[in-house]
Amino acid sequence: MNSMALAQRVNEIRGRYAGWCPQDKGEHVFETVTAHCPRVSVELGVYGGQFLALIASAMQEVTDDISEYAIHGIDPWSTDALLSRGGVYSGDCEYWSTLDLESVYRQTLQAMREFSNVHLHRMDSVSGLVKFPFPTIDLLHIDGNHSEWHSTQDVLNWVPRVRQGGWIYLDDSDWPSLQTARRFLLEDADLCAEGKTWLAARKK
Ligand SMILES: C[S@@+](CC[C@H](N)C(=O)[O-])C[C@H]1O[C@@H](n2cnc3c(N)ncnc32)[C@H](O)[C@@H]1O
Repeated sequence: MNSMALAQRVNEIRGRYAGWCPQDKGEHVFETVTAHCPRVSVELGVYGGQFLALIASAMQEVTDDISEYAIHGIDPWSTDALLSRGGVYSGDCEYWSTLDLESVYRQTLQAMREFSNVHLHRMDSVSGLVKFPFPTIDLLHIDGNHSEWHSTQDVLNWVPRVRQGGWIYLDDSDWPSLQTARRFLLEDADLCAEGKTWLAARKK
């Protein structure tokens, strides 16, 4: 796929599913997936499924049998979880606290039916740990609660579940509250790409 076709495809997917994946990050993950076809992908913080749809669509470009490539999305879709420990969405507290997450969940469930290999788990990232006890994750996206506490916890809990050489995306890596998480992540992974609001790294 040439760069113009890639940009168009990613832009079209971003337009179809709710979320906040910037164009450059979407293009990066699309290319990573088409080049390496990760067998197990996990996203912490799904919202409307935009990032999951980018992974799933990229897979459809390169394989007819997507059943071998599992994509897991973990999100409690709960206001309490979103705002827990000062959840830093507090900068925009009114927007987040009045959001109808029940309806976002239902819409996401419906939208993801399009992809038979996407599995949604309605739980927080700590509860989700029991499903992945070994370092078997090929691609991880950390985009749940953005407080310093939760984002650091997500890095410390989940990066050990990523196999050596696996890809880890950290969203909003420029936020002050994400700096501890970022520092710990880059002790265990090598930075391979960075946008204004995200980074990608490969597990050492
Ligand atoms: C910024 S949105 C995710 C956007 C999505 N990844 C995308 O690229 O479009 C953050 C999501 O994190 C979820 N979240 C909040 N606390 C969480 C937790 N403890 N574990 C997992 N997800 C959490 C929220 O429900 C919300 O849907």
